[in-house]
Amino acid sequence: MKTNNRLMKFPGLADVHVHLRVPGGEQKEDYRTGSAAALAGGFTTLMAMPNTNPPITTVEGWQAAQEKAANESLCDVALFMGVSMSSIENLPELGKFAPALKLYMDLTFGDLRIEGMDNLERIAELWPRGKVLALHAEGESVRTGLKLAEKFHRRVHFCHISRKDEIEWIAAAKAQGLPVTCEVTPHHLFLTEADAVRLGSLGDMRPRLASQSDVDALWAHINTTIDCVASDHAPHTLAEKQAMLNPPPGVPGLESTLPLLLNAAAEKRISYERIISLLSTNPRRIYSLPEQPDTWVEIDPDESYEFPDHALYTKCAWSPFLGMHIKGRILRVVLRGKEVARDGLVHDFAR
Ligand code: NCD
Ligand code: ZN
Ligand code: ZN
Repeated sequence: MKTNNRLMKFPGLADVHVHLRVPGGEQKEDYRTGSAAALAGGFTTLMAMPNTNPPITTVEGWQAAQEKAANESLCDVALFMGVSMSSIENLPELGKFAPALKLYMDLTFGDLRIEGMDNLERIAELWPRGKVLALHAEGESVRTGLKLAEKFHRRVHFCHISRKDEIEWIAAAKAQGLPVTCEVTPHHLFLTEADAVRLGSLGDMRPRLASQSDVDALWAHINTTIDCVASDHAPHTLAEKQAMLNPPPGVPGLESTLPLLLNAAAEKRISYERIISLLSTNPRRIYSLPEQPDTWVEIDPDESYEFPDHALYTKCAWSPFLGMHIKGRILRVVLRGKEVARDGLVHDFAR
């Protein structure tokens, strides 16, 4: 239902935490479907994670995937480098290529976890100081990550922060002047552990959904400590998610992130200006992402609908937010002067 014709223009958005599953997980997502989902959701730049199969931990692996991403994607895609126990000493060389490093400190999907303080310190020492070290860190690992930033005087970015104590530790570290930044996901802002019960495996991800007081704490820091909202778009097929044995953690998010935030703005829980900082200005600054001239997203902040307003482009084709009432709709996306999406339809994408 359209109430008036207010129109907003946002800059092209950047999602700095997505899983596009190439190589090795193409049944879940590939560069074409993932980037189409991005455009449908207002994102024109993506940063993709290295927990693929095999994981991306070598110059050759990174270059091959980056070239494939450039050829097949409908928007700009930059790839993180990953690090495994056996590739730590190669980091200075790897750092000449990839724009940022992803380090997994806790158990999640894939097998890139690094354990042991010696190894963590060696990584913080060897990855180029001028490039971001992004952490999957939960609980105590966040504290360890803050110590690494302090000891090695280096930039550290915390992925998907989800708990009250974690966001408060980061706020304190920032107040001390440590060069740290952080992101939160829409699922940790808009869902709680009660939703996890309702959704079953479709509400399971790492970090797990938290309590209402954790969610309230994230919202209390939305205009200050939190630098970015990133979707952690982590598609797995419905069959994989509904498997009896060990369904993989992760939920898709590229197509729901902006709608959820627009709805929160319509409810006056966040300003439209802050959404632009969280989804464009800050992630672009943190990761030094190149400019995209003549690139914007047109939004009708007043249009209401039931999510999604289009057939999902993500190959996994489900969402934990199905059926949510949303006020605020993406009308049009223009990338480098060319209309790439309109009314939920991504041009150049044959289903
Ligand atoms: C992610 C995935 O599926 O790759 N899963 C998740 O639950 N978030 C991995 C990750 O981001 O930790
Ligand atoms: Zn993670
Ligand atoms: Zn992730």
